[in-house]
Amino acid sequence: MSSMRSKVRHRIGDQRIIRVQRMLAPTVRRSLGALARVYLSDKGGFHAYTEFYQRHFAPLRQRPIRLLEIGIGGYDSPTWGGASLRMWRDYFRHGEIHGLDIEEKRITEPRIHVHRGDQSDQAYLRELARRHGPFDVIIDDGSHVNAHIRASFEALFVNHLRPGGYYVVEDMSTAYLAEYGGGPPGHPGSSVELIQSLLHDVNRYHWPTASAGVARPVRAVHTYEKIAFVQHA
Ligand SMILES: C[S@@+](CC[C@H](N)C(=O)[O-])C[C@H]1O[C@@H](n2cnc3c(N)ncnc32)[C@H](O)[C@@H]1O
Repeated sequence: MSSMRSKVRHRIGDQRIIRVQRMLAPTVRRSLGALARVYLSDKGGFHAYTEFYQRHFAPLRQRPIRLLEIGIGGYDSPTWGGASLRMWRDYFRHGEIHGLDIEEKRITEPRIHVHRGDQSDQAYLRELARRHGPFDVIIDDGSHVNAHIRASFEALFVNHLRPGGYYVVEDMSTAYLAEYGGGPPGHPGSSVELIQSLLHDVNRYHWPTASAGVARPVRAVHTYEKIAFVQHA
């Protein structure tokens, strides 16, 4: 990244930059990749997730959806971050966009609502979802700690995502990193192991329910490099 671009990226949330971004965004709002570039979201270039998002989210674009993204960005700066929330707000023109971060965030923009809380606190997540859900889309781009990814999924997926909605887990390569509670393939408790376990739920109709417990309502699981989309049944 050039040093100029790097300086700009570190000022995501600067009011002058936001004004320029909001002028540019309407000209490119049909393309999620272009919106990511305008708002300096790394869901575009660095991670290359926008192609996959567009594949799954295009049919939802004109609907009055509710989206929750865990992880607003900007870490301990109250005013930095929010790149992807702005991108989603402009992509889903009738959407209500909610962001959750463990740090305080002061972002006051149309159709964007920010909440402060810890994604590993299941009681907090359930209360947030009772107040503002159910959601059509939930995206986990928070701590990327494997135990947190599982805690959030368990709290939100079954009861707080609408039928047909998507739960997305980003940056799943932390499944293999010890500092995020991951380990080699097969490591118990990793995000990849969670996603693998959902394949049983997709095929739940012939489960011997008495011994295997209750299946989760999963219609489909799509995995790509570092990202998974789980569709509610
Ligand atoms: C990668 S950034 C999010 C980037 C943003 N989604 C985007 O695409 O523009 C991760 C954010 O997660 C937040 N975070 C870290 N641990 C968290 C936790 N336990 N609960 C909620 N948010 C957390 C961090 O403060 C940081 O702002």
